[in-house]
Amino acid sequence: MAFASAPKALIRPTGPARPVERATGEIGGTGGQTAEAGALAVSARGVSLTYQTRDGAVEALANVDLQIGAGDFVSLIGPSGCGKTTLLRVIADLEHPTAGSILINGVTPEEARRQRHYGYIFQAPALYPWRTIERNVALPLEIMGFDAKERRRRIDKYLKLVNLSGFERKFPWQLSGGMQQRASIARALSFEPAMLLMDEPFGALDEIVRDHLNEQLLRLWDQTGKTVVFVTHSIPEAVFLSTKIVVMSPRPGRIIDVISCELPRERTFEIRETPQFIKIAQRVRAGLRSGQSYDE
Ligand SMILES: Nc1ncnc2c1ncn2[C@@H]1O[C@H](COP(=O)(O)OP(=O)(O)OP(=O)(O)O)[C@@H](O)[C@H]1O
Ligand SMILES: [Mg+2]
Repeated sequence: MAFASAPKALIRPTGPARPVERATGEIGGTGGQTAEAGALAVSARGVSLTYQTRDGAVEALANVDLQIGAGDFVSLIGPSGCGKTTLLRVIADLEHPTAGSILINGVTPEEARRQRHYGYIFQAPALYPWRTIERNVALPLEIMGFDAKERRRRIDKYLKLVNLSGFERKFPWQLSGGMQQRASIARALSFEPAMLLMDEPFGALDEIVRDHLNEQLLRLWDQTGKTVVFVTHSIPEAVFLSTKIVVMSPRPGRIIDVISCELPRERTFEIRETPQFIKIAQRVRAGLRSGQSYDE
C-alpha cells in the first residue's frame, strides 16, 4: 500500500498554530513527497558538533560521514551519550553542526524541515494530555490546513495502521505506554513524510510489546517505502529492522562501522535464529566492543 501524496496546496500552513503545541518539534516534518528512488535522503560530510556549556565545551560528534539512501532503514547504535540523539537532531535541523555539511533529500536541513520531509518520534510519546488521541493525530494536519474530511480520513487510516482503531476518543493517559507510542507514530505518519526519525521509540517498553511494534514498523516501512533513521541500544532490534546499521563510538560520536543487513525485506522473528542474522549481530557487537563502549 503506497501512501498518497498530500496535495501541494494543502501543505501550506493556513494560520498560526498554538505555539505551545509547536514547541516540541515532534510534529516538525511534513512531506507529501516520497524521495526519488536511488536519491540520498541524508548526506553528511565531516559533521562535528560541540556543545558549549557552562562547564566548557562538550564534543558530541566528530567528523561524521553518513549517506542514507531513500527508502533505507538505518539504525544508529552506540553507547549512551555517544551522540545518537544529537545526530538525529542535526538531521532534523534541531541542532546545527559546528563543522561539516549535511543535506536532506538534496536540500539543507532547514529547507527539509520547512518542507516537512520528516516526522520525528521521540523516546517518550509526547502526546498532548488535553487532546484526545484523534485530536493529537490531527494536530499537524490542522497546522497544515487540511480540511475536516481529509483529517478524518487520515486519522482513521493511520490509527488503523497502528492498530488503534476504537481508541480515537480516549485521552493519552487512558492508554498504555505502547499504545501512546503507537499514537505518536500515527501522528508522525499522518502528514505523510518521506522520512521518519525515531529516537529509541520502543526503549521503555517490555520485550513482547517491543517485538510486536518492531514487526508493525517493519511492515509499515515495507508497505510505504519510507526512509527510516532509527536510534536503538538493542543489537537484535537493529539487526531485525535495518537495511544498514551505523555503529558509533563513545563520545565524541564517530562512525566505527556501517554494516549492510542483507536479510530479506519481509522478516519474521524466526530470522533471529539464522546464521546470517547471528553473524551480523556479532559484527555489530564487535564494532561496539572495539569502541570500548558498553560497560556490562
Ligand atoms: N543541549 C546540550 N547541551 C550540552 N551538552 C549536550 C546537549 N545535548 C547533549 N549533550 C551532550 O552531548 C553528548 C551526546 O548526547 P546525546 O544525547 O546525543 O547522546 P545519545 O547517544 O543520544 O545518548 P543516549 O543513548 O543516552 O540517549 C552527551 O555527552 C551529552 O551530555
Ligand atoms: Mg539519545
